[in-house]
Amino acid sequence: MAIEAQKIFPLAGRVARYNRDFLQRVARWMTGHGIRQFLDIGSGYPVTGNVHEIAQRCAPGSRVVYVDLDPRTVEVSNALLAGEPDAACLLADAREPEAIFERAGLLDFGQPVGLLMVSVLPFVPGDVRPLVRRGGWA
Ligand SMILES: C[S@@+](CC[C@H](N)C(=O)[O-])C[C@H]1O[C@@H](n2cnc3c(N)ncnc32)[C@H](O)[C@@H]1O
Repeated sequence: MAIEAQKIFPLAGRVARYNRDFLQRVARWMTGHGIRQFLDIGSGYPVTGNVHEIAQRCAPGSRVVYVDLDPRTVEVSNALLAGEPDAACLLADAREPEAIFERAGLLDFGQPVGLLMVSVLPFVPGDVRPLVRRGGWA
């Protein structure tokens, strides 16, 4: 599939790498500013250098909840996270922030939470500003 994508968009590989570098830089920056909890919405397929790996390397004990709408992505993520007490992946929709808050039991929303929504909003139909505000994220 990646090879097919590159035929249509030759820069796809480079863009994916830049995207990933950005995500990891942001996670490092947040830990450097005292954030110890992360909510990564639209987390996608787990690859190397996931948010919990970055955050826990910089700040051991950091907790991460991943959220994705795609059941297979969530299944693979949770298989990789087995035995990892401080990270989990939820099957949920970014358009339903209350459901995410309710189920993200690893996170204490009374404390700062670093919100990551990297390369997901273009895939959410409609005007996403009300959604981001409703979640209290803007
Ligand atoms: C391009 S990937 C981004 C992955 C990751 N954030 C990154 O930057 O590497 C977009 C992801 O958003 C998920 N997604 C799309 N719409 C969503 C929604 N409404 N709620 C939650 N996840 C969604 C897709 O299933 C996909 O895994």
